[in-house]
Amino acid sequence: MSVKTLVIGPGGREHALARALSLDPAVTEVHVAPGNPGMAAVATLHDVDPLDGDAVAALAVGLGVDLVVVGPEAPLVAGVADAVEACGIAVFGPSAAAAQLEGSKAFAKDVMNAARVPTARALVCTTAEEAATALDELGAPYVVKNDGLAAGKGVVVTEDRQAALDHAVACDRVVIEEYLDGPEVSLFVVTDGSTVYPMQPAQDFKRIFDGDAGANTGGMGAYTPLPWAPADLVEEVLDTVAHPTIQEMSRRGTPFKGLLYIGLALTSRGVRVVEFNARFGDPETQPLLALLDQDASPLSALLMGAATGSLASVTPPAWREGAAVGVVMASRGYPASSSSGDVITGVDAAEALADVHVIQAGTALRDGSLVTAGGRVLAVVGVGEDVAAARAAAYDGVACISFDGAQHRTDIAAGI
Ligand code: AMP
Ligand code: GLY
Repeated sequence: MSVKTLVIGPGGREHALARALSLDPAVTEVHVAPGNPGMAAVATLHDVDPLDGDAVAALAVGLGVDLVVVGPEAPLVAGVADAVEACGIAVFGPSAAAAQLEGSKAFAKDVMNAARVPTARALVCTTAEEAATALDELGAPYVVKNDGLAAGKGVVVTEDRQAALDHAVACDRVVIEEYLDGPEVSLFVVTDGSTVYPMQPAQDFKRIFDGDAGANTGGMGAYTPLPWAPADLVEEVLDTVAHPTIQEMSRRGTPFKGLLYIGLALTSRGVRVVEFNARFGDPETQPLLALLDQDASPLSALLMGAATGSLASVTPPAWREGAAVGVVMASRGYPASSSSGDVITGVDAAEALADVHVIQAGTALRDGSLVTAGGRVLAVVGVGEDVAAARAAAYDGVACISFDGAQHRTDIAAGI
């Protein structure tokens, strides 16, 4: 098989996808729109707005690609996958209707309830009075989620009732839910709407500072596999979450195909869904794709199988031995703000290290220099025989890279 691909999106997840596709022997061309400077090494960049479905579809037709991979949630919710599919091109990523699993927390809760998927008890509120009643009914710690897309910043978890209420009032519609304790796990499943293949569990570090202190971010680092996770975790999540959810989406006439990101809490009372996303997670995708065994299970075959309803005839994801760790370097001010235009040095030096590669996200070229252009600037990925070795490699890479105001956590995958 030979496959021409187009990856839609500008960030780290898309760089990781484009890089993995470029390493897949079946893939003859990798195009990205709009991409970032890091992706220029593995793909051809096209300056097209990822939210403009007609423009993306026209680019896909013009390039004659076989497969479009839509990376971020915003284009999916905006119907970019629908626009591409309408032109007869295979697309990895759900329709706008199915992407509501991420686009609306209230919708996701409704699907989970209908499918009897274990999750936190939740109340949907649109007024301050409703919110106040819900906060008192569910008690502290308070969890208040903006109903719509909020780029990882829509959720407030706090002991402070007033802060919880303020967040609820600041949003049009919120989901207020029971607090879930216990470690979080990200399990990604690839699906064509009926067949479901799990990837390896991964873990993401959401808070900005070491020791899980400070504000929630889009994710400051991640690793896979999780040596401490229960042996039957994947099977349990397939049985209790993934299959029932995918079946419920089909039953509603809005089959979900693409990547279902299942965010889980392993609570003292059992496994509970914290959130669904309708796309690969960032930064978990960076270490996950670093470990995908593309000799046994090439990425393009998985994505194409999911896109075309033929996943059952494709080899399920197979994984290389060992572990991978990704450490995010963010710009000054992140996550409240970000800093642009700071010159980044040392990326080549980091990539010259054995078992290290750099995935770019918020970067740009200015007068020939690589500069910061966003909150999460890049992720340094290390691979090794176990988590400790992969972590050491990743941090050796981080030590090579500098830019003004750079911040990173020092405890990603520590003590695992
Ligand atoms: P979400 O956007 O729903 O993933 O929420 C972002 C983060 O907020 C999660 O990764 C958790 O760390 C935290 N969070 C969300 N829901 C809950 C909950 N019910 N209980 C405790 N923490 C939560
Ligand atoms: N890693 C969190 C996310 O992708 O939403």
